[in-house]
Amino acid sequence: MSQVNENMSNNPEREKNGGQITVGPRMKTDSAEPEAAEVAKKSETEENQVHTDNSTGSNLMANLSRRRYLNRNDELRTAQAMKTAAENDPYEIKEVMARGAEAVLYRSVCGSFTFCAKAIRNNWNKVLGSTVKASEKLDNVAYRTKMRHIQNEFAISKMLNEDGQMPIVRIYALRKVTRFGIELGYDLLMEYLTGHDLGDKVLNKVLPLEDKIRVMYQAVQALSFLHKKKIIHLDIKPSNFMLVNGKIKLIDFGVSVMSGYQSKAITGTGGYLSPEQICKDTIDERTDIFALGIAFGVFMGGQPLTQPQDELLTHSAREEARMHMNQSDIPALRSVPGLEDMPLVAEAIRSCTIMRRDKRMPSCNALLAKFREAAETYGIVLN
Ligand SMILES: Nc1ncnc2c1ncn2[C@@H]1O[C@H](COP(=O)(O)OP(=O)(O)O)[C@@H](O)[C@H]1O
Ligand SMILES: [Mg+2]
Repeated sequence: MSQVNENMSNNPEREKNGGQITVGPRMKTDSAEPEAAEVAKKSETEENQVHTDNSTGSNLMANLSRRRYLNRNDELRTAQAMKTAAENDPYEIKEVMARGAEAVLYRSVCGSFTFCAKAIRNNWNKVLGSTVKASEKLDNVAYRTKMRHIQNEFAISKMLNEDGQMPIVRIYALRKVTRFGIELGYDLLMEYLTGHDLGDKVLNKVLPLEDKIRVMYQAVQALSFLHKKKIIHLDIKPSNFMLVNGKIKLIDFGVSVMSGYQSKAITGTGGYLSPEQICKDTIDERTDIFALGIAFGVFMGGQPLTQPQDELLTHSAREEARMHMNQSDIPALRSVPGLEDMPLVAEAIRSCTIMRRDKRMPSCNALLAKFREAAETYGIVLN
């Protein structure tokens, strides 16, 4: 699916980038390449902060809670050590894991830690970087656009990071890549997720229906985590949710904004755009809810909306979108495949895609409640 990113340039020039369409001045960029070979350096562990009080004796509950406390402290120490390593230590870029619209994602090793490095590179990298495999080359996306997105992603992650488990990817550091003092690009070092994104066709085929419903419920919980912090993702689609050990993690905050943001451009992915995105109105939680409904339809085997870039950028498309946003009570999603026997779940999903913003499913919490209620009718208990 193509991604639309119309920026504020007066001199629009459209370019196609492996499915991504951007409008605005562009320059050709190259893909990431390995940093200089690095020596593994063991990161320092923090002082042991665990209380070693052994006076709990036979009290089982106290022992259990103490063990949880110890585990939690282990987790916190590891997370802190990973952050310190990601920020300071040399790291080595290994094989390509995935290719996004703007970045190449590599497995990366830093001392005893493994990270996922989301890498963007500029033109200088072609001259000064090491050999880049042709297959790793990305099409034209302006370096400054990529840079803006990766910096935005890092800034957003700082607002999201919490101790303990999170339903979003943990991002540790943004490292500038230079050679001979010249900037070649940036690497965003983040948690290495072993799993599949929800755009994976095989995953969609093998997951039983009940698991799909649980996965969707978790996806709403993940988005709710973001919305609690007043952050709007703005690029909700199946490939931006990862399923890792049965848990959903939301990724890719490159174009995320704060709720209430006044759009100056159409940002997001064609096929998932709400009327308010198309007519450049204010963005809020309901904008993500709309895209989530479409994403669930696709996850269940349906198609994204037909939103060709050429049309999106016309005045009439904007006028039409504004009309829909104010008047259309109908959901953009006509049906949800695979949910014929669970019409209440299908209805919950469709209600996310009502064009009129004030008639749409209003929030993640409301959607979670609707999902629970609907699923329970079919004997599925969600929590
Ligand atoms: N931390 C991660 N661990 C493993 N795979 C990842 C991770 N982050 C992203 N991916 C994979 O890479 C793909 C592209 O990453 P993403 O951050 O969405 O890039 P883009 O902004 O270019 O869309 C994702 O759809 C997912 O399959
Ligand atoms: Mg993505």
